[in-house]
Amino acid sequence: MDIFHPLAQVYAEKHSTPQDSLLQELELFTRAHHQASHMISGFLQGRFLQLFSTLVQPQCILEIGTMTGYSALCLAAGLTSTGQLHTIELREQDARVAQSFFDRSSHVAKIHLHCGDARTIIPDLQKTWDLVFIDADKVSYLDYFNMVFPSVRVGGYILADNIFFHGQVFEEPIQGENAKAIAAFNTAIVNRDDVIAMVVPLRDGLSVIKKVK
Ligand SMILES: C[S@@+](CC[C@H](N)C(=O)[O-])C[C@H]1O[C@@H](n2cnc3c(N)ncnc32)[C@H](O)[C@@H]1O
Repeated sequence: MDIFHPLAQVYAEKHSTPQDSLLQELELFTRAHHQASHMISGFLQGRFLQLFSTLVQPQCILEIGTMTGYSALCLAAGLTSTGQLHTIELREQDARVAQSFFDRSSHVAKIHLHCGDARTIIPDLQKTWDLVFIDADKVSYLDYFNMVFPSVRVGGYILADNIFFHGQVFEEPIQGENAKAIAAFNTAIVNRDDVIAMVVPLRDGLSVIKKVK
């Protein structure tokens, strides 16, 4: 039996609480104006991120790969009253759009947007992370994980998006450097004994990783 019926996504969206008007506007804007709009988390995954963050109630969130800010706004909803979210985006144009939407959000004071290469910015952020969302260049996933893991508190979570890489990780042999890098990331995670991981088959696959020691 297939786990997923072809209509599952449509049905799930119809029976999940709608996004607020700002998120709706941001998703519509991104889909209309961004040349790679398929990268946005979008409604269903965004709702998951928001609920997950609300459950964790993080004090400190790191997001790697802001794009136009959709997932950052979803994650920020779960922050404690004094919590902070740091999000990193390489492309100035995307960062500008993201900041313009953050400015209209009730979470604006808690969101710190860094424009530049995550590889150089992460080491400067001296924080203990309760929640990290990895969603930038796929070839760097394992490097990002290794960079942030020591700064994630025990009991904290790392989420990683596009864990199926458009289904390309199911192919034998795996082609393309992005799919190979994601497959290597998935193998490295499942072989660790200091995390509990589950791949949630949501959208393009979302890995939920808890640091347990
Ligand atoms: C999949 S999109 C992020 C989507 C966003 N998290 C969301 O769900 O709406 C990936 C983003 O990572 C950015 N990116 C790629 N390489 C990066 C790097 N080295 N440092 C920071 N951002 C990077 C890209 O410019 C792109 O906007």
